[in-house]
Amino acid sequence: MKVVVIGAQWGDEGKGKMVDYLADDAKVVVRYAGGANAGHTIVIGDQQYALHLVPSGILYPDKTVYLGMGMVIDPEALFNELQMLKDRGINWEGRVFISDRAHLVLPRYRELDKKRDAERKRPIGTTGRGIGTTYSMKSERDGIRLADLDWKEKIEDLEDADKEFLNKYSERLISMRVNLTAEMYKHRNDNILLEGAQGALLDLDTGTYPYVSSGMSCSAGAAIGAGIGPRSLDKILGVFKAYSTRVGNGPMPTEFCEETQSELYHYVRETGREYGVTTGRPRRCGYLDLVALRYACQTNSIDELVLTHLDIYDTLDEIEACVAYEIDGQKVVDFPTSIEALNKAKPVLQKFSGWKQSLKNCRLYDAMPKSARDYVDFIEKYCETPVGIISVGYERNDTFLRTKVW
Ligand code: IMO
Ligand code: MG
Repeated sequence: MKVVVIGAQWGDEGKGKMVDYLADDAKVVVRYAGGANAGHTIVIGDQQYALHLVPSGILYPDKTVYLGMGMVIDPEALFNELQMLKDRGINWEGRVFISDRAHLVLPRYRELDKKRDAERKRPIGTTGRGIGTTYSMKSERDGIRLADLDWKEKIEDLEDADKEFLNKYSERLISMRVNLTAEMYKHRNDNILLEGAQGALLDLDTGTYPYVSSGMSCSAGAAIGAGIGPRSLDKILGVFKAYSTRVGNGPMPTEFCEETQSELYHYVRETGREYGVTTGRPRRCGYLDLVALRYACQTNSIDELVLTHLDIYDTLDEIEACVAYEIDGQKVVDFPTSIEALNKAKPVLQKFSGWKQSLKNCRLYDAMPKSARDYVDFIEKYCETPVGIISVGYERNDTFLRTKVW
């Protein structure tokens, strides 16, 4: 069976935690998009791991992981991450493989990415990891894939600094390089987890363009990124937080007001540890945006939603969520494409009572306080999508299933 885990908001929804949790029953994990712009945090007991490129199944000693063909891979960042894992006792050798169709990030691309964003009239606030530059080189047909590392003529044509850089990593990359489609075929009867990066609203096509990343973070990207066809995907899980966050620039209609709601803003940011794992930037925080979430369900065929960070709301008297936008005096429920419209959108909020108790030890839906269930039931109805998994804390096991995943 093949299960896809995507972000259903603007990234940082807890995809890494979910992939780690679900990987227990998988044989293989494939990360299908993005690069070192991602930051996936996994907490096991007193240990915290931040992964950027390596798929989140790596922490189990018996899982095989693949970096997919939709990814852009900075070899320097990859080998630093693998060294970090080794130093922390995670033995990865022989079980990390990379698609020969994945593209490589060169140091020059990282610099170009930063320079280009700094020069933009309306900067995107990229992570500066060379992501956009590498994906544009790919579309220009000037990119370098792992498969090209032993294409002598192509490598000869590169600048000296590029050659020197690739030379350092070439042998190691080649030893991990695979034909991903053939590997997927080999594993066709196994449980495979496909791990997305970023989120539905940061997807190049379905996101809030141009304030997006450059990869395919949508569920359709899972098929392409793993080298299989879309009919091979069995289930799509969309991870979202009980509230919204966004890092970098671009519209966010439900963002809390820093001046008039500074208490709520800072409470959510601090309790939710809403600081970028990759860049350390404080994340923008706001109400759950159901207009955007329903759009994400529709554009990604989400079968089940996965709700994380519900416990962050444990102490609030009252909770609000956005059920429509008001744009130029009109009520809008379909997520707009225009940045101008999104910038003007004012959230129409619905109130819910708080539950005022800790959810940390809840492992059954019916054991949750009624007001917490009311919030979840409303989300399900609004999005016409069931919430199948709920996370009530940072730890791997602070999670419960309402229905079987595999
Ligand atoms: P994970 O996988 C949150 C954002 C950046 C910026 C925009 C473009 O951890 O959820 P880029 O460097 O990709 O060209 O930046 O996208 N961004 C993310 N925000 N989580 C991520 O990944 C992100 N990856 C990129 O902040 O606004
Ligand atoms: Mg992140």
